[in-house]
Amino acid sequence: MAEQTRNDVLVFYVNGKKIIEENPDPEAMLLSYLRKKLRLTGTKYGCGGGGCGACTVMVSRYDPQTKNINHSSINACLLPVCQLDKAAVTTVEGIGSTKTKLHPVQERIAKAHGSQCGFCTPGMVMTMYTLLRNNPQPTLEDVTKGLAGNLCRCTGYRPIIDGYRTFCQSENCCQLNGSGCNVSSENESVEPKENGQPGLFSKDDMLPLDPTQDLIFPPELMRLAEIKDQTTQRFCGERMTWISPGSLDELLQLKTVYPQAPLVMGNTNIGLDMKFKGIFYPVIISPTRVPELFKVTQKSEGVCVGAGCSMTVLKSVLENSINDFPPENTHMFQALLQQINLVSGQQIRNVATLGGNIASAFPNSDLTPVLAAGRCTLVALSKDGRRRVPIDKDFFLGFAKTILKPDEIVLSVFIPSTRPNEIVHAFRHAPRKESALATVNAGMRVWFNENSNVVKEISIYYGGVGATILSVDCTCQQIVGRPWKEATLSDAYSTLVDEIKLEPSAPGGKVDFRRSLTLSLLFKFNLLVLQYLKEKDVTQREIPQKMQSAIQPLPKHIQPGYQEFQNVLESQSAQDPVGRPMMHRSALSQATGEAVYCDDLPHTDGELFLVIVTSSRPHAKIIHIDFSEALKLSGVVDVITAKDIPGKKFRPFAGYDEAVLAEDEVTCVGQMICAVVADSKAHAKRGAAAVKISYEDLQDCIFTVEEAIEKDSFFLPRRTIERGDVEKGLREAEQVYEGEIQIGGQEHFYLETQSFLVIPVGEEKEMKVYLSTQHPTLAQEAVAETLRIPSNRVSCHVKRLGGAFGGKIIKTAILASITAVAAWKTGRPVRCVLERGEDMLITGGRDPLWGKYKAGFMRNGKITAADFQYYTNAGNTADKSVLVAEKMLLHLDNAYNIPNLRGRSAACKTNLPSNTAFRGFGVPQSVLVVESMINDVALKLGCLPEEIREINLYKEVSLTHYKMEFDPENLVRCWNECMEKADFRRRRQAIDLFNQQNQFRKQGIAIVPIKYGIGFPDGFLNQAAALVHIYKDGTVLVSHGGTEMGQGVHTKIQQVASRELNIPASLIHISETSTQCVPNTCASAASFGTDANGMAVKDACQILYNRLEPIRKKNPKGTWQNWISTAFFEKISLSATGYYRGHDLDMNWEKQEGKPYAYFTYAVGCSEVELDSLTGEYRTLRTDIVVDIGRSINPSIDIGQIEGAFMQGLGLYTMEELKFSPSGVLYTRGPGQYKIPSFCDVPLKFNVYLLAGSSNPHAIYSSKGIGEPTVFLGSSVFFAVKDAVTAARKDAGLTGPFQLNSPATPERACLACTTRFTKMV
Ligand SMILES: Cc1cc2nc3c(=O)[nH]c(=O)nc-3n(C[C@H](O)[C@H](O)[C@H](O)COP(=O)(O)OP(=O)(O)OC[C@H]3O[C@@H](n4cnc5c(N)ncnc54)[C@H](O)[C@@H]3O)c2cc1C
Ligand code: FES
Ligand code: FES
Repeated sequence: MAEQTRNDVLVFYVNGKKIIEENPDPEAMLLSYLRKKLRLTGTKYGCGGGGCGACTVMVSRYDPQTKNINHSSINACLLPVCQLDKAAVTTVEGIGSTKTKLHPVQERIAKAHGSQCGFCTPGMVMTMYTLLRNNPQPTLEDVTKGLAGNLCRCTGYRPIIDGYRTFCQSENCCQLNGSGCNVSSENESVEPKENGQPGLFSKDDMLPLDPTQDLIFPPELMRLAEIKDQTTQRFCGERMTWISPGSLDELLQLKTVYPQAPLVMGNTNIGLDMKFKGIFYPVIISPTRVPELFKVTQKSEGVCVGAGCSMTVLKSVLENSINDFPPENTHMFQALLQQINLVSGQQIRNVATLGGNIASAFPNSDLTPVLAAGRCTLVALSKDGRRRVPIDKDFFLGFAKTILKPDEIVLSVFIPSTRPNEIVHAFRHAPRKESALATVNAGMRVWFNENSNVVKEISIYYGGVGATILSVDCTCQQIVGRPWKEATLSDAYSTLVDEIKLEPSAPGGKVDFRRSLTLSLLFKFNLLVLQYLKEKDVTQREIPQKMQSAIQPLPKHIQPGYQEFQNVLESQSAQDPVGRPMMHRSALSQATGEAVYCDDLPHTDGELFLVIVTSSRPHAKIIHIDFSEALKLSGVVDVITAKDIPGKKFRPFAGYDEAVLAEDEVTCVGQMICAVVADSKAHAKRGAAAVKISYEDLQDCIFTVEEAIEKDSFFLPRRTIERGDVEKGLREAEQVYEGEIQIGGQEHFYLETQSFLVIPVGEEKEMKVYLSTQHPTLAQEAVAETLRIPSNRVSCHVKRLGGAFGGKIIKTAILASITAVAAWKTGRPVRCVLERGEDMLITGGRDPLWGKYKAGFMRNGKITAADFQYYTNAGNTADKSVLVAEKMLLHLDNAYNIPNLRGRSAACKTNLPSNTAFRGFGVPQSVLVVESMINDVALKLGCLPEEIREINLYKEVSLTHYKMEFDPENLVRCWNECMEKADFRRRRQAIDLFNQQNQFRKQGIAIVPIKYGIGFPDGFLNQAAALVHIYKDGTVLVSHGGTEMGQGVHTKIQQVASRELNIPASLIHISETSTQCVPNTCASAASFGTDANGMAVKDACQILYNRLEPIRKKNPKGTWQNWISTAFFEKISLSATGYYRGHDLDMNWEKQEGKPYAYFTYAVGCSEVELDSLTGEYRTLRTDIVVDIGRSINPSIDIGQIEGAFMQGLGLYTMEELKFSPSGVLYTRGPGQYKIPSFCDVPLKFNVYLLAGSSNPHAIYSSKGIGEPTVFLGSSVFFAVKDAVTAARKDAGLTGPFQLNSPATPERACLACTTRFTKMV
């Protein structure tokens, strides 16, 4: 054994540079090492738990056995630094840069407009880069599957796919890969050209893939790897010792000495336990250097795989075995392979090991049910000897418990081939098709007597239905010895339903769904077995035609889509970029990792890190805050409480005050109470964990809207609006229908969490605040008031945000204030960057809504009266919820002329974390209720929903219900064009036919319109200002009040300035948004950023341009540079401010009338889905969107906003589910539990058309705001699912309206289908 105190040296390379780490910290992950120690900040933190891919790097290792160099994409957030011995790490900075040469992977994502906020971009780049290093000619499926572990919240993925599709040889010849590819394509071109239209980007100006550009693997590492090194490595940290044995004997000895020490292999399980559950191990054993754990041997009866093999290695072992064994012996290999392909994303599969998966013994492991059903065994080894153990029900004792003794390790796993007449299948259902832990999975094996359908042996294991995997022995007993036929299976279903009991309060919830899934999966197995028996000629029984699709995979082939926009006029100057698809101005910096986000700012001298301590109680009095233990901990400098706030201890908003830090009482779990500052993040976290807060619980908690109504708990005012006479309208209607819908909330899930750096200047109370906010002025005010200093001492700086979507306004200002108090009190710079879980807990999201409606309508479908009642769950503070509830009422009419219309809204005060602004500001919820009513009217009348929509559309110049006049001509045009472009009527017929022909597969289609008001109803919020400097060399620096959060406002402003000054865009720079350059700005929100700031910049540029007029006149042939130089010598000011007063909008709620919007953006979206009614899983087959955005300033950015918003809406309405405990604790605190759309959710065909020939006199260059409106079009997927469910219900004999709440998750869709199996549970 190695001695206890020696510290070994770790040798690895990063981007070709040798690193000799003498004191690696066993607790440090590669991500923080790269970012903090090496200052390579291109690799991003998005979640810290392997769930988002923002931290992806390539890790390469030389294998001395095979002499190969293996490249793997890996999540740096889960890779312990101590595991890097002899590895070469490549980060986004190592493959190309704007200063030297870009890598094509960086260039193509940027030029294809696949980078908006850019926070996910380095991760995307590195995943794609690694994929190409391993496979320079991938298929499109390789690309989308490879990227499945990377999330993007902005783009909607389509442009990333299109950018990277250009690397695919077989899909579409790219002519770029340096190999003179001449494969001709059967598919459509990457750049669809319709009516001679250009695409959004041109492949012609993209760099070819050039392998010589890649860093070579360091020869020194090859040499080192060739040296057989069996010495034990030991690294001692502050609290933890890391031991890496060099031999199996040493490993077993260590396990005897430290039986409680975990074996860290992929660190994908133990790493999460340590990070998120606070479990601490003083000693870690890392056996990654023990060769026996990686040994693979093929035998005649199966294959033996070392327990240390990663899923990626296991995948290739199985693929080889499938090739090597006769087909009838490969069923087990195929089943396991199918399951492995669906385990998480590539980055996790590259590190997660077979042994780790088994030893972790978690109930929804995808491997263990198959391994158990497939008769696999493992070799357990300890100092006392080895034993062969079957992986079966006796192996797993409970949650995370197996029969392995503490000193035993899993050495290898034997996977037997299938015997003649034996088949194995694997099943899995997850909340998202890819990169999501299974809700329920299963492994099923049946062995038949020779030439017979009589079952000799059967084994069925389920995962996800208990604390451990479950063998359904009684069900199997029903089947064994009997022929495989309907009667046998019917008995089996009946037994199964009794055998799998789940209490209503079972962990994981979804009890009925999970039970019905177990039946559905057995039914699918039944069909597969019937197919097998038929193929073997054992039975003649055919699977009925109508059922065959139940065992087919859902369609998944992504096709190129159209992005149609208007070309600029031929007469427009070639230099004028307005109206052209110009790349996001920071896209290349984002793709190379050079773009600077708040937490990328360098560490400042003496800097401290701040961690917030939050309430663990939903409603309680704070009795005492004891931080004495925290202060004793190493590195902890101070604890900040409300008492330390020198100024205002609360933030006023919408008539209510919100405490900056709770002092006497807490009103939700997650409310901020105090903050610990320490010399490092790790120390601050430990300090925060040591703070003890004693509470006296208050009993009157309110969590739901229903409870709030009962207890009359609301934020005031409650609003009402009415046009016509609703009571009369309802009385006179031919039919009346009442319904309701619950719409869940939504987490912003911006990829960059809330981030701050506050630096006290040290003089005259000045504070510099660097932060990620949509509203720098609000943060400035908040910091000034909290510190009780004048605003002119606080400067807020925002370079860019890694996404915001409304979530970086109010809470951000409060968090900035807390960080500023810490900086004020300590006199030192303080940084605060929330972890993903903290961010999700503290900052709230979209208000959930309970919407009730009553509709009066005529037999012809005309709705004559509608009455809506809205209750939002605002949470514990008012924030923006009252305004959200108001905006909900303003969009009650959506696109429909309902003569008698009434809405009442209330923001309920509850003991959940406060909700806030979120893209669409209540409209996506409000309009879903309206459209649900329309759907119900259609079902009540037995008509198609699109008919009712069309009948009720506004068709001529009209007044809204708040008496604002508008012309719906373009709304109607969008509707008609969408109908036509989507080929709606033909597809509706085809879908009807499909649904008649398929029993368990249903298709659905829906088309929905939106009329979205642009601007702030409070007129003063529509103003904007700008400052434009021209320097003597002719370059221009533009500052304005808008913040760049991915929406491309800086790019559009650059285009505006270029046109107004008549100079190339390349001469114009935008550095940051700063309250020092432009004061008193309004929030970048309400889709109004370009409208307002564009006008202010235009004003400033026009002032400057006019000032230069005399000089131009004197020297008309001069260049811009000549004129600027002359102007300087002629003492003409080259700096100007610009101002835009904005529209004087207002809404008078007493009179119920006003002009709250400058204009409307219109859009119509149509989606088609295919639904598996047995599991509720579905795929969006196609989406067509037609949008009236006037004349687009930048079609690529606008289309990016449209697609991104659509996908966010798709998430809202069909996937994203926030879960709270009965006592108000948010369960869903990361991408593991909260699923946002991923690559697999993109419509297989996604077309966007910008309405031609539209203009808008109310906004700059006739454009329209577009950030928010198309979120609602995501509901076309919701209604398409509802349409498919309607077809399934028809088969079950159910017709008429039914309630489908949002999100229409697979669980809700499946249960609503009411199949034979859902009826059994
Ligand atoms: C983002 C994410 C997504 C995931 N998705 C899926 C999924 O879809 N399906 C799925 O099945 N799993 C999924 N997982 C879980 C993952 O498969 C397991 O965490 C992984 O297989 C564990 O292997 P590891 O090498 O990382 O184990 P580690 O985390 O390194 O170790 C886990 C535990 O196993 C023990 N252990 C490891 N090796 C051995 C050995 N040879 N002998 C004895 N004990 C050992 C360790 O002591 C430790 O207690 C996911 C994990 C993450 C982080
Ligand atoms: S930060 Fe590593 S996967 Fe999210
Ligand atoms: S561009 Fe992908 S998260 Fe913003």
